[in-house]
Amino acid sequence: MSEIKIFSPATVANVACGFDVLGFCLDNIGDEMVIRKTDKKGICITKIEGFDLPFEAELNVAGVSALAMYEAAKPDCGFEIEIYKNIKPGSGIGSSAASAVGSVFGMNALLGNPYNKTELTQFAIKGEALASKCEHADNLAPAIFGGFTLVKSVAPLEILEIPSPDDLYATIIHPQIEIKTSESRAILPKKVALQDAVTQWANFGSLIHGLHTSDYNLIQKSLHDVIVEPHRSKLIPHYNEVKEASLQNGALGAGISGSGPSIFSLSKGLETAKNVKNAMKNVYSKTGITFEIHMTKINTEGIKIL
Ligand code: HSE
Repeated sequence: MSEIKIFSPATVANVACGFDVLGFCLDNIGDEMVIRKTDKKGICITKIEGFDLPFEAELNVAGVSALAMYEAAKPDCGFEIEIYKNIKPGSGIGSSAASAVGSVFGMNALLGNPYNKTELTQFAIKGEALASKCEHADNLAPAIFGGFTLVKSVAPLEILEIPSPDDLYATIIHPQIEIKTSESRAILPKKVALQDAVTQWANFGSLIHGLHTSDYNLIQKSLHDVIVEPHRSKLIPHYNEVKEASLQNGALGAGISGSGPSIFSLSKGLETAKNVKNAMKNVYSKTGITFEIHMTKINTEGIKIL
């Protein structure tokens, strides 16, 4: 095999109380990439469609993660990368992570899979860091592993797969404005109050327990963020209205998707997720801000060969 086409999915990071450690993978929303083996050594990005991104490998998220793997693997070939980008950069649903994992996943497959999923995530962190100025893996891990993932540690990298309850659906509204992850990280406080930390880790622990036991009531009680949301929500127009409308229409919880501006909600059952979708839509339809809405089951497969 000398060429491979892949689907690299969008993801939701943080999931309210799990800043920088928890994420889940979305179905049907993602980038496509073609990775091709070449006789000429090195990494060459030959095509980018969808958004205006740099072709130089060292300046491109997919290129940087590819270079990290290339330097480690030292293969006797090179690779060409084509990127068909559907996830808008700065959307909050893991645009840079999709690019970062796509190149290394494709190269790995063409080399006969010498690396495991954690090792691929390790290479992809280098690409993600180019975009967000910080090494974090909470979008990368669910894109590679699928489902919910918990990044137990970045150095050394340790990723836990968390079960996804069968009847859990995500609804995501994406206002078409850009919030750079690096900027929305810069506004966060360096220190947090002990009482807030206690609340956050109680919620986080119980959310993980709720996911393990498919306890939707516990998931509902746990989807709260007292540390990050108060700061970042100010960057997202009509955030509180969208959140309120989602909860009133039966969502288990809602929060900022990654670093925003997308807002996610989780619901039990398709019908509720549809109601939440309509409620979110109603709020934004009145604002004059263009938006997209996605509604999906949790994607337990992750990145895949097409
Ligand atoms: N955990 C990251 C953040 C995800 O919230 O900044 C966005 O890349």
